[in-house]
Amino acid sequence: MSFDRSIKIAPSILSADFADFGREIRAVEDQGADWVHVDVMDGHFVPNITFGPPAVAAFRKHVTTVMDVHLMIAPVDPYIDAFARAGADIITAHVEAGAHIHRTLQAIRGAGARAGVALNPGTPAEAVEHLLDLADLVCVMTVNPGFGGQKFIDMTAKVRRLRAMIGDRPVHIEIDGGVDPATAPALAAAGADVLVAGSAVFRGGSVSNSAPYGENIAAIRAAAQAALG
Ligand code: DX5
Ligand code: ZN
Repeated sequence: MSFDRSIKIAPSILSADFADFGREIRAVEDQGADWVHVDVMDGHFVPNITFGPPAVAAFRKHVTTVMDVHLMIAPVDPYIDAFARAGADIITAHVEAGAHIHRTLQAIRGAGARAGVALNPGTPAEAVEHLLDLADLVCVMTVNPGFGGQKFIDMTAKVRRLRAMIGDRPVHIEIDGGVDPATAPALAAAGADVLVAGSAVFRGGSVSNSAPYGENIAAIRAAAQAALG
């Protein structure tokens, strides 16, 4: 995985057909997805439950791009090795998930994955200020995590601040929640390069009619790139 700041679209399979993940993953990749975003929820850190390491290992067989695993779980540390063994390229943990996020990021890299750190909407950019040399990605949540299809919360100012804090470091800024062609431009202009989108990618399509996935991905990408001038 090489680093660059080009716009990357990462469909969240939270909005896919849960009975058909393999074909859904292949469909979004065929239709232009750059990464595949996997939302792990535990019913404790967030009020919803999705999938654990065995499911993520099964997804891995179908992902040919980058498997971006977003852990919305607490505690995180006991499960890092399992998600790394499941084949996650990137493992993202929340600042809010425990007292020792610094140790968590070290453990993720120690397990052989890229390390991401996520910020809930109520958490300031400064919460990651002392973590930027330990992180490969900062995920700015633009919804309160737990569900797809929620209303976008504007975090443009936070993204701009993070982009300045990151400077020349090879750290991605990812946006997660309510991303669509209308919300993507300001975020891209502020410095975000990875755009997660669930409902805005999967709407209107299916595995047997996947062209809408491609149109949706292209529309988000075009809107974001246009904002970069
Ligand atoms: C929210 C998840 C997101 C979610 C995004 O808790 O982390 O990845 O699937 O879904 P949309 O794009 O529908 O807001
Ligand atoms: Zn997510």
